[in-house]
Amino acid sequence: MTDALHATPLADQAAYAQAVRDAVDAAAAYYGAGDSALDDDAYDRLVRGIEAYEAAHPEHVLPGSPTGKVAGGAVVGDVPHTVPMLSLDNVFSAEELAGWAAGLERRLGRPVEMWSVEPKLDGLAVSARYHGGRLVQLVTRGDGVAGEDVSHAIGTVVGLPETLSEQVTVEIRGEVLMTAAQFEEACAKRTAHDGTTFANPRSAAAGTLRAKDRPYRCEMTFFGYGALPLPPDDASELAGRLRELPHSQIMDLVAGLGVRTTGATPVGVIAVATVEQVQTRVEEIAAVRAELPFGIDGIVVKADLATDQEQAGFSSRAPRWAIAYKLPAVEKITKLVEVEWNVGRTGIIAPRAVLEPVLLDGSVVTYATLHNPADITRRGLMLGDHVTVYKAGDVIPRVEAPVAHLRTGDERVITFPDVCPRCGGEIDASQQRWRCARGRACHAVASVSYAVGRDQLDIEGLGETRIVQLVDAGLIADFADLFTLTREQILSLERMGETSTDNLLAAIERAKEKPLNKVFCALGVRGTGRSMSRRIARHFGSMDAIRAADAEGLQAVDGIGPEKAAALVEELAELAPLIDRLVAAGVTMTEPGVTGPAATGQGGAGSDGTAEADAGPAVELPLTGMAVVVTGAMSGPLEALSRNEMNELIERAGGKASSSVSARTSLLVAGEKAGSKRDKATTLGVRIATPEEFAAMVHAFI
Ligand code: IVH
Repeated sequence: MTDALHATPLADQAAYAQAVRDAVDAAAAYYGAGDSALDDDAYDRLVRGIEAYEAAHPEHVLPGSPTGKVAGGAVVGDVPHTVPMLSLDNVFSAEELAGWAAGLERRLGRPVEMWSVEPKLDGLAVSARYHGGRLVQLVTRGDGVAGEDVSHAIGTVVGLPETLSEQVTVEIRGEVLMTAAQFEEACAKRTAHDGTTFANPRSAAAGTLRAKDRPYRCEMTFFGYGALPLPPDDASELAGRLRELPHSQIMDLVAGLGVRTTGATPVGVIAVATVEQVQTRVEEIAAVRAELPFGIDGIVVKADLATDQEQAGFSSRAPRWAIAYKLPAVEKITKLVEVEWNVGRTGIIAPRAVLEPVLLDGSVVTYATLHNPADITRRGLMLGDHVTVYKAGDVIPRVEAPVAHLRTGDERVITFPDVCPRCGGEIDASQQRWRCARGRACHAVASVSYAVGRDQLDIEGLGETRIVQLVDAGLIADFADLFTLTREQILSLERMGETSTDNLLAAIERAKEKPLNKVFCALGVRGTGRSMSRRIARHFGSMDAIRAADAEGLQAVDGIGPEKAAALVEELAELAPLIDRLVAAGVTMTEPGVTGPAATGQGGAGSDGTAEADAGPAVELPLTGMAVVVTGAMSGPLEALSRNEMNELIERAGGKASSSVSARTSLLVAGEKAGSKRDKATTLGVRIATPEEFAAMVHAFI
């Protein structure tokens, strides 16, 4: 399927030979360390150019050419696959899709009865071998014939359980990737360890899957997209069903065994009858791509029925019954124009790349993260460099690497600030991430604005202009100072009348009643947002218990690993004087409804001094053990609640709030205008409640 529009033109035999070398190098880098100087688009164009040249000059074809080879012929492994792990052919447009489908139907001599459409996940293919229901081996795709044994990663891949719900022998194939959240976590761990970071989620997953002796563990996620009978059990009842069932039903079967599949992604696996419906579904998936919690590089269309697949068969490279509809690349080359240094609310001085605007995943990217000064040095970045930039799903745009062979000699060295770019004061450069030596005080306006925001202390009437006035007048240096402001001090500010002063004082007074989770969130501890603050507050019950916990104690909270725990201990020590002043001002330091030693003064909840006794809460909460998703407009008693407030309500009532529906969702609260989440819940048989029904379940907590 050669398309001139998407092929790099190759003028002569020398250009062809150079193109083969470049493509082989790029494939080796991509499948090896996971980094490649060519972006996906450039690589695809190059290979298409090579294909076009080879079609016109078969006598020049080089034995090392990447065409017709899985993974561009880049990788070899030593564990033979039971059945080759092939690649997929690509299409890039509705016309090419229709052409491919018509070709398949001609080959079959009949229309394809059913198509299945699912996301093409941008990770690494792995094969998971289960014997008697136990995960015994994990193998990468390698060259398709044999792969690398990566069984050491078992236990770090969400969605790939160590035991199945039935004692069956089966091979599950699918993609291992990092979600945006897992990627951020992995980058933070790597930065804490050696100051470096991962280029993008795909290379982070590739490196992590192979890594054997890293001192830190990074979590990944698996989504299965196929299942095969596995010897010696290839004559079992299950093997028979895998040979006969349509692909979409095999996905349900695999999910039933406890493995996460493409069916559990927010877009799922949808079976449709016509190619027009396939195209519609492709467009629907493409439209939500930027909101997905992980990267996809296309959509996979498969003939759903086993009979169609069997008859269509395989080419040497790919099945004839499936195609990848490629979406525009999420990694592109653009120019680094400038580096800005911004001071955040915690005093961190963060470099930010100003780029020549580039379209990535549906939005124009002009700025990208540059991590820290050491990372800039390590990558050898220069102003004017061509750089690869990555943005997919909800990952923050990031500069991956300079493209060194595109340098002209006009590039300039990036200068690092020698004083704080905000206050002109000293810089603390002792850590990987530089910080103003004044810490949070440097950008007090930002840290106070955050603390009084709607999801924290919610102090009405304290907009940024007011905060600037208060800071400039020397009345506050942090948000604890708000609680000791006098009426006269506030009245002394320009444009501040009696009524607004009294209103502001009343709002500050009300903020003292906020539960611990809001007060904790207001502290703005690095890496600790709203939901983490809720978890910490629920676990410990009181600020005293949080402060008394050591790094190990903090790790008992879901989502806190060793790195985060150590950082938290450090931050809490730094914030101690501020917390002391909050306590002295009478700000609430306990979480209502949590019975803990510090909260009740009685002690005895858990031997670690925490409120959340491992045996479970003293009173069974209505949503204990339930994963709840909210969609559509709320009504009745819940009408005024924001999504965040709904999530808080769910967590107060003992549940876990989640944003996407999967097989593990216990309940979907669906209001008016609920869309795809309701459909998904219906497909998966997830219980659905109206806002009114849900309000009745949790009435005591509203
Ligand atoms: S089906 C015989 N389904 O894309 C090959 N592959 O470019 C059947 N991939 O090697 C593959 N998401 O690693 C299939 N939903 C999906 C996929 C998917 C990602 C990967 C897979 C494959 C590569 C081909």
